Amino acid sequence: MKKTTTYFKEAKKRGEKLTMLTAYDYSMAKLIDSAGIDGILVGDSLGMVVLGYENTLQVTVEDIIHHTRAVARGAKDALIVADMPFLSYHISVEDAIRNAGRMIKEGMAHAVKLEGGEEIIDKVRAIINAQIPVMGHLGLTPQSVNVFGGFKVQGKNKSQIEKLIKDAKLLEEAGVFAIVLEGIPKEVAERITETVSVPTIGIGAGVHCDGQILVTQDLLGLYSDFVPKFVKQYRKLSVDIMEAFKEYISDVKKGQFPKDEHSFKLDEQTKNELEKLY
Ligand code: KIV
Repeated sequence: MKKTTTYFKEAKKRGEKLTMLTAYDYSMAKLIDSAGIDGILVGDSLGMVVLGYENTLQVTVEDIIHHTRAVARGAKDALIVADMPFLSYHISVEDAIRNAGRMIKEGMAHAVKLEGGEEIIDKVRAIINAQIPVMGHLGLTPQSVNVFGGFKVQGKNKSQIEKLIKDAKLLEEAGVFAIVLEGIPKEVAERITETVSVPTIGIGAGVHCDGQILVTQDLLGLYSDFVPKFVKQYRKLSVDIMEAFKEYISDVKKGQFPKDEHSFKLDEQTKNELEKLY
């Protein structure tokens, strides 16, 4: 079944939890989609888990478009959300619409995600007016890492909590179809979830959100540079992968790979002709 932004909004009314994961390439998107996920985010976490940057700030519009196209080719049913990278929606309303439009036209995404509340609300409204669905993102928004002084949990005091609730309401009024809540206390996420009519998708925001999202590399235990407290590693695939690489290296060194079953063979007549060649 095709998942749409309407499906997301209806799921909240039905009290049905939504599931999202990140993907950046065709094969992983195909697997995630076949497993029955509701939404795939081509996150700017790409910068860290795929491109090896320290944070998300270097990711470009071209990077996200390139990877979103690959994901769109792999996913049949999931709603595909492309992350708007740092400075792709901050400079002007025009710039924000143009870049969001590229995510849809060139990246083949169904929707875009923007970090922030009041400060960017004019851009959110304009993108939605241009008929592009928007997902909001509040809390520990990674593009603000230098303002926060690191990846620090947000919404821990009264003024931060009030701002988060105000921002969530503003995003809802602007017409977003969902809001990611990242790195905030579960009580605050619960309050926001009760306050807004659109679904909240949590990451490090506790169990009361309307849905959850994780970075796929974290869930699979593929990215070990940093494992946040909120991550549940469902597998430790980096261990299996390392073993497979070591076995391959050892097999090749010992002449145990490739074997006959991995080789192409000549027929007898051509083999005899080959032997007589020199
Ligand atoms: O870039 C990303 O993967 C994200 C999620 C963590 C929500 O923004």
